[in-house]
Amino acid sequence: MSDRLVSSSASGEDDRFDRLFRPGGFDDYVGQKKHVDNLKVFVEAARRRGEPLDHTLLCGPPGLGKTTLAYILAKEMGVQLHSTSGPALEHKGALAGLLTKLEPGDVLFIDEIHRLNMAVEESLYPAIEDFEIDIITGDGAFASSLKLQLKPFCLVGATTRTGLLSAPLLSRFGYVMRLDYYPVEELIAIVERSARLLGVPLEASGAHEMARRARGTPRIANRLLRRVRDFAEVLGTGRIDEDIARISADRLEIDDAGLDTMDRRLISIIVDDYEGGPVGVDTLAAAMSEARDTIEDVYEPYLLQQGFIGRTPRGRIATRKAYAHLGRALPADRVPAQGNLLEPE
Ligand SMILES: Nc1ncnc2c1ncn2[C@@H]1O[C@H](COP(=O)(O)OP(=O)(O)O)[C@@H](O)[C@H]1O
Ligand SMILES: [Mg+2]
Repeated sequence: MSDRLVSSSASGEDDRFDRLFRPGGFDDYVGQKKHVDNLKVFVEAARRRGEPLDHTLLCGPPGLGKTTLAYILAKEMGVQLHSTSGPALEHKGALAGLLTKLEPGDVLFIDEIHRLNMAVEESLYPAIEDFEIDIITGDGAFASSLKLQLKPFCLVGATTRTGLLSAPLLSRFGYVMRLDYYPVEELIAIVERSARLLGVPLEASGAHEMARRARGTPRIANRLLRRVRDFAEVLGTGRIDEDIARISADRLEIDDAGLDTMDRRLISIIVDDYEGGPVGVDTLAAAMSEARDTIEDVYEPYLLQQGFIGRTPRGRIATRKAYAHLGRALPADRVPAQGNLLEPE
């Protein structure tokens, strides 16, 4: 296991539990209500017309339920899901191989769709627009292009940020769904369901304590539940109550606001090393020895949403809340900007 609960991608252990915990249909999928209600309508309408679902883009930080929703859409449509990812589709041939296997209405799920290479992305356009692909046969002077008709299918793409997608690709999705961090009540429902699946006795106070510290993220809530279960079994009675949840979270260095060591480190770099900022993302990434993408996809969105940091044209700044959280006094000559004074993304 990695030393932190907030990693950019799912570990092997996560994969196993993601499958165990993954809701099977709309009814088990907690929250994101506005979008889920819309998706239910689109699924019903497509089913009645006997057509595939319109191409759908799911967008949001890791662990919020994008892959889960892709599977749910296929299940609710009564079709097969074929799963791949941007980096896995190395050349046009690989894409053509997948596309020609699809049955009418099937879902093609492309995770990390922003990481498709340009050639593959371009050959995807006619496939999603007109359900056809160009296949090149032969070599050199004898090469000729052949149009191949595909069965109508539904592309479901997942990405961490819509801004990473090229405009032509983005414009080809009929519905773009941006997933938000989950409020505590919804995370409670998620850990309660997962605890039932694991057969772990869980008190309401324990569920609340874990939900509160789960960084708004279902995957983290489920991960935390597994760790707290370990502590409860070894140090306690096996039952998860508020005390054991708090003790476990403290030992995992997840603080009261749900921030972990990396979150606090990011804030403290801005506050302590750069006098509250602004600090450019590349500087932050270097100081944390992380990829810039990880900073932007994993850490920042939650810290921004919670108002610990702000984004300005010149870089990231620490807010009053960040100083208070770290227990630092605000420098007298400096009044950090408040969230509502900041430039939008
Ligand atoms: N809305 C939800 N309701 C219940 N469980 C969820 C929900 N969203 C995510 N999960 C759980 O969180 C884990 C991670 O979800 P996943 O779909 O793999 O996230 P993503 O693809 O966005 O990284 C899964 O185990 C899933 O069971
Ligand atoms: Mg996923």
